[in-house]
Amino acid sequence: MLKGKKILLCVTGGIASYKSPAICSLLRKNEAEVKVIMTENATKFVTPLTFQTMSNNVCHVEMFNQLFNMDVEHISLAKWADVIVIAPATANVIGKFANGIADDMLTTVLMASRSPVMIAPGMNTFMLNSDANKDNMETLKKRGVIILDTATDVLACNDYGSGKMLEPAEIVEEIDFLLTTKDLSGKNFVITAGPTMEPLDPVRYLTNHSSGKMGYALAKCAKKRGASVTLISGPTSLNPPKVDKFVSVKTTRDMFDAVGEFFDESDVLIKAAAPADYRPKKYSEEKIKKTAKNDLNILEMEKNPDIARHYGSLKKDQIIVGFAAESTNIYEYAKQKLEKKNFDMIVVNNIKREGAGFGTDTNIVSIIDKDKVDDLEIMSKTDLANEILDRVKKLMS
Ligand SMILES: Cc1cc2nc3c(=O)[nH]c(=O)nc-3n(C[C@H](O)[C@H](O)[C@H](O)COP(=O)(O)O)c2cc1C
Repeated sequence: MLKGKKILLCVTGGIASYKSPAICSLLRKNEAEVKVIMTENATKFVTPLTFQTMSNNVCHVEMFNQLFNMDVEHISLAKWADVIVIAPATANVIGKFANGIADDMLTTVLMASRSPVMIAPGMNTFMLNSDANKDNMETLKKRGVIILDTATDVLACNDYGSGKMLEPAEIVEEIDFLLTTKDLSGKNFVITAGPTMEPLDPVRYLTNHSSGKMGYALAKCAKKRGASVTLISGPTSLNPPKVDKFVSVKTTRDMFDAVGEFFDESDVLIKAAAPADYRPKKYSEEKIKKTAKNDLNILEMEKNPDIARHYGSLKKDQIIVGFAAESTNIYEYAKQKLEKKNFDMIVVNNIKREGAGFGTDTNIVSIIDKDKVDDLEIMSKTDLANEILDRVKKLMS
């Protein structure tokens, strides 16, 4: 979503400036255009040459060295940017920006800017919490400047506390969030993700290979596009994305109940989870011992509720998207599932193909609706999530 976006990265003289080239690099990897301005003091920490190389553009430091083209540089830079990001932002630059001081290239561009400005502060805890800095940040917030949180950790000065600049990936996420068109705003999405876990005894359980990556990518993208998102997730090793509600469940029955809680209010239900179809019939309160008697046939199974089928049968105006992982008769099984479960669309992957299915960052799927089958190329789970959301949006309209 950052493709082609114009980002003006402003780097000031804080110790976290050593991380700013990584921000530049990540933005470029996401196909954004980046220009960089540094304060004179920032060049004591990192060189302009680094940013020039990483951004593939001239790095601006000097106010009176406007030799690059015939424009007045600070005005043209300010007009150029879709967003201005100050990372790290020193207490000094925050103070100057809040009080209208424009005594170098960076602060003059800020004065001339009409684009959104995002600030990633990085400083010692006492500086962060000083009255002057708090007032300055409050003033900027009131003017609509976006001020990111800081992390709490051991700081460069060896103190432990708040004031650590967010990591480059987190800052890039925030930029992406800000610049993504909110074309799904006002819509309520319920998304399920991950496997479920069916306990056998206090030690053992049955589960499957679902990593949750596809469902999490869908939740993240829907949220970025302005939807209100409830993510119902089985156990995964992923960090929960920023969504409106995150509901953690273990078993298929838990997931069934959680979907029931949010289904009526939803506009869209996307079932990207892989809930277990069966569970052990009996849960043993004590660990099952390895004895000759238990060696065979200890696993008696019973059926779990079919979440997709149940809520498909209760569907009113909702759009329901299902997923299927198949290894044979892919289209046939997927079409049967589409009809039986009253889905509007089913995303089916052939788990035997390399680059598709569980745990990977890419997927190769076919998307089937009532009218047609589309075989898609291999793509990242994020791109696939946006493709699915585009189709859901079409169905809603
Ligand atoms: C080693 C070192 C690390 C510093 N780290 C920070 C910092 O993390 N945050 C901050 O606000 N100031 C920090 N300072 C102080 C700023 O460099 C100083 O306030 C300077 O005037 C900022 O200039 P600028 O805002 O024009 O870049 C540091 C100074 C030194 C010498």
